[in-house]
Amino acid sequence: MIQIKDLKVWVADKEILKWVSIDFEIWKNYCLLWKNWSGKSTLSAFLMWHPKYEYISWEIQIDWNNLLELSPEDRSKAWLFLSFQNVPEIKGIRLSEYLRTIYNIHLKNTSTEVKELSPFIFKRFIKKYLEELHIDDRFLDRELNVWFSGWEKRKIEILQMKLIWPKYIILDEIDSWLDLDAFRTIAEMLKQLSSENNTLIIITHYFKILDYIDVDKVYVMKDWNIIREWWNELVEEIKDKWFKDL
Ligand SMILES: Nc1ncnc2c1ncn2[C@@H]1O[C@H](COP(=O)(O)OP(=O)(O)OP(=O)(O)O)[C@@H](O)[C@H]1O
Ligand SMILES: [Mg+2]
Repeated sequence: MIQIKDLKVWVADKEILKWVSIDFEIWKNYCLLWKNWSGKSTLSAFLMWHPKYEYISWEIQIDWNNLLELSPEDRSKAWLFLSFQNVPEIKGIRLSEYLRTIYNIHLKNTSTEVKELSPFIFKRFIKKYLEELHIDDRFLDRELNVWFSGWEKRKIEILQMKLIWPKYIILDEIDSWLDLDAFRTIAEMLKQLSSENNTLIIITHYFKILDYIDVDKVYVMKDWNIIREWWNELVEEIKDKWFKDL
């Protein structure tokens, strides 16, 4: 479970999150329906770690560990995964090496006895994932996300999730920049990924994705704080009227 109590975050004297309290339980899916610039990406980046953010917080726990004491690597090893709203392009890092590295790190995290996959074995191992996602294997030799289309970047994010099976997955507007077909495909892939062993935290401005993935709870944020929470039975109701009500 991720538990956030009274979190205040600011950057360069600008207050972004004001005393936010929010919990994410394992095995449940959540939707953050927050307005533009309400602090969604800030919260996501903060949870993953951001060098520029200053904060005050009463408590942030992830599975009974103090998240704030964990390095970004340890947060990832604690199975927290962020799919960025703006997926970064990283020059000089080959996609295959990046994927092999994260895979091996997470593999060793599950057991110290397992052996790392060599580049040769990894290329064979990853083949089925590439086929599933319709990713050409020539992509493996390209630099990480550099000049990838929005759709291709999203598929690489899904590929990472399939490789390392994170427990808490934050999807920061994964449904943006996609045409209808691509959107449907991504939504279906996420539905398949959703299981009893993970928690999806879906950040979105649209309700369409809720047609594909069941969420247990919806949080609405306005003016940098959470103003409403609904359980899933009320999702239909919000779909119709939340814009008018807020
Ligand atoms: N590093 C930073 N430096 C300065 N301002 C920042 C920084 N990070 C976030 N902000 C500001 O904080 C506010 C909230 O930004 P954030 O990206 O978290 O919003 P958001 O809810 O994700 O918006 P959107 O729906 O448009 O993606 C914005 O006004 C943004 O400019
Ligand atoms: Mg954002």
